Amino acid sequence: MTKVLIATDKPFAKVAVDGIRKIVEDAGFELVLLEKYTAQSDFVNAIADVDAAIIRSDIADKEVIEAGKNLKIIVRAGAGYDNIDLAACTAKGVVAMNTPGQNSNAVAELAFGMMVMAARNNFDGSSGTELRGKKLGIHAYGNVGKYVALIAKGFGMDVYAFDPFVSKEAMEKDGIKCLTSVEELYKTCQYVSLHIPANDKTKKSINFELLSSMPKNACLVNTARKEVIDEEGLLKVFAERPDFKYVSDIEPGCKAEITEKYTGRFFFTPKKMGAQTSEANVNAGLAAAHQIVKFIKTGDKTYQVNK
Ligand code: 3PG
Repeated sequence: MTKVLIATDKPFAKVAVDGIRKIVEDAGFELVLLEKYTAQSDFVNAIADVDAAIIRSDIADKEVIEAGKNLKIIVRAGAGYDNIDLAACTAKGVVAMNTPGQNSNAVAELAFGMMVMAARNNFDGSSGTELRGKKLGIHAYGNVGKYVALIAKGFGMDVYAFDPFVSKEAMEKDGIKCLTSVEELYKTCQYVSLHIPANDKTKKSINFELLSSMPKNACLVNTARKEVIDEEGLLKVFAERPDFKYVSDIEPGCKAEITEKYTGRFFFTPKKMGAQTSEANVNAGLAAAHQIVKFIKTGDKTYQVNK
């Protein structure tokens, strides 16, 4: 019988697991569940005899992919697939997919929650500031960036975006001001919300030059990946700009130094929390299950990312 593994170190809400189970079992397949595993070897062992796998930020490296003797498809229930070794998938003839857009609203809401928190001095009782009228720069106008823009307009923010893959016309249709360089975005906007993927081109690309060019009372909001930040540059900005704040959905490598020296100027979630809502779990988890069933039954490869 076709076996579908859910391997989630950070489990989906029960309602999402129940929904995935129904889709998988209605298709005549068997569901195998591996949650909150403590060692990577548990994942390696669990994938050994399944045909398909649904993962989140779980590390599907070469060892995992090669261990999947019967593996035909692996779906990242979410947007970023930097956790999957795509070359290993391709070499083994495994189709890798993501589920674009399915958890975007959840991530956008968290970006905003953290922005409000920063503006209100982490709710420490002192007088903060408001977001209305402030300039927000959206760095990459994809699925999450679009939801961030919608919320920002509700807050009365002045919204800008930079994205070389989205036309000026498309942004202007959404009421967003299009900037044509990343430098211009950081120089213009007091708040910048990051929505770029982590890849060879973007890793460490958010550097001292960009961050130090931001206007007074700058705040960087990172619900993307910690790897896109040049942490040496980040620490230098923290040291040189007492008005600079950084809020991030996941702790940076340099958390200890920031925590020790820069009280009140940061907030870090203990685990990646952006997509951790039952709605996002249901949207992304069920989409992943449907994509697997469709692929196995009809060969449909929509959303394949290793082509
Ligand atoms: C994504 O890329 O979709 C988000 O970072 C969510 O990741 P998660 O499913 O591990 O919470």
